[in-house]
Amino acid sequence: MLDYKKLAPAILFIFGGSGDLNYRKLTPALYNLFLDAAMPDQFRIVGIGRSEFTDTDYKKHLKEGIDQFSRKKADAESWKNFSTHLDYIKMDINEKTHFEKLASVVSEQEKKYGVHPNIVFYMAVAPQLVPVIVKHLSGLAFCHDTKTARIVVEKPFGHDLESAREMNHMLLQYFEEDQIFRIDHYLGKETVQNILALRFANAMFEPIWNRNYIEHIQITASETVGVEARGSYYENAGALRDMIQNHILQLLCMIAMEPPVSFNSNEIRNKKVDVLKAIRRISFDQVQEYAARGQYGPGWVKGKQVPGYRQEKGVDAQSNTETFAAVKFFVDNWRWQGVPFYVRTGKRMRVKSTEITIQLRRAPSYAFPKEAIETWRPNRLAIGISPERDIMLRFQAKRPGQSVVLSPVDMVFNYKNAYNGEEPEAYETLLYDVMDGDATLFMRADQVEAAWEIVMPIINAWQNRKLLDFPNYSPDSWGPEDAEALIARDGHNWISQYS
Ligand code: BG6
Repeated sequence: MLDYKKLAPAILFIFGGSGDLNYRKLTPALYNLFLDAAMPDQFRIVGIGRSEFTDTDYKKHLKEGIDQFSRKKADAESWKNFSTHLDYIKMDINEKTHFEKLASVVSEQEKKYGVHPNIVFYMAVAPQLVPVIVKHLSGLAFCHDTKTARIVVEKPFGHDLESAREMNHMLLQYFEEDQIFRIDHYLGKETVQNILALRFANAMFEPIWNRNYIEHIQITASETVGVEARGSYYENAGALRDMIQNHILQLLCMIAMEPPVSFNSNEIRNKKVDVLKAIRRISFDQVQEYAARGQYGPGWVKGKQVPGYRQEKGVDAQSNTETFAAVKFFVDNWRWQGVPFYVRTGKRMRVKSTEITIQLRRAPSYAFPKEAIETWRPNRLAIGISPERDIMLRFQAKRPGQSVVLSPVDMVFNYKNAYNGEEPEAYETLLYDVMDGDATLFMRADQVEAAWEIVMPIINAWQNRKLLDFPNYSPDSWGPEDAEALIARDGHNWISQYS
């Protein structure tokens, strides 16, 4: 069982209680926290939605979600105990008076608990519904208790820099920054959090973690799935907004940030914002040099025919939306000057893999005989984020035998072997942290805006210049040729440990 400290009583109100996110992620995560004795001794989880549900039907619906998506399966006894903490409220978010129902839940529980609980409002709804909910919540007195009331906002956080600023402005009108928890689920992944341990709890990496030893860095987040049922959302988003503006830039920050002086949430986030501020801004005219895009066509995956992006439901038949994006970033500071960070992400690619590669400069080989160095490779540190969770260090070794023949070997740390697969899902960690009031793994307003600033020139250029060769990559491939060219121009090639 995982180890957690006990939390104060809490009430979680989940707007979008009958929706997909709650069904697939939130309730399964809360259930697993419950099984790990990480939920407070006293808590309620109140789903809020427009659909009609009896108490029994709502619980039955959530149980189905657990059976399908939970890390641990529900046994009858535990489920029965957990489900006594669940409620459902049908309400219309446009009706201010309906919000009084929440106030009655709070005062009722407060009496039972004998203390004022932590209160979490989770916005598991479409972003356009958030403003009206937030406005009506602000009419409830207990929302102004900045120590106990918290609001969780899901991505997408804005559609561009301007709308993200508006969203921040709107939220900050009603809540303090410390009360706002903007989710980026990548930050909840164990392997992502471990980057800080790897870098700052070991003496051997930090001294070489800079431009003197590192040649370049790659981040890949490839998926084998297409856009599935999310065509109408994706059509207005694209790979750059969906993955790079948030998840990938956050991974880049973890790799590039300076050592924090403490693990205080603002200290960590300050250090990450510094990275975002140091990322070189590119002009509209430089976009072609720094970025490449792609869109998948129809084809075959493992003997099965799959539609192209333009044939997916909710997608324009002439769509200009990218389902693949690759960008070369530079972090213009003392540590990273001149080191390229190549990032790429795409749907319908050959493997599902999020991984980071730190490629070191070549060691000098002059002392070895010519034949020995034919397979000479630079050292490499590869961090598997998901689904493979491992860290691999590649170095040269001498093959056994009389002659000196060198070849690279890999030293691997694997989470599954080391920890018996006992790892919380990202949403477990994030929900626990919200109840605990710890915002380290959440996005602050300035982080979100800085990340938008970085991608805006690319978004603008791609919107204004339609690519005539879309679709330009086949399913089950590594994306378009332009992405290969982007990295090949610098004499490198894309790396995946898992292909
Ligand atoms: C989401 C994107 O934020 O992340 C999805 O909207 C994507 O399009 C998903 O599939 C990937 O997450 P993970 O954890 O499977 O890498």
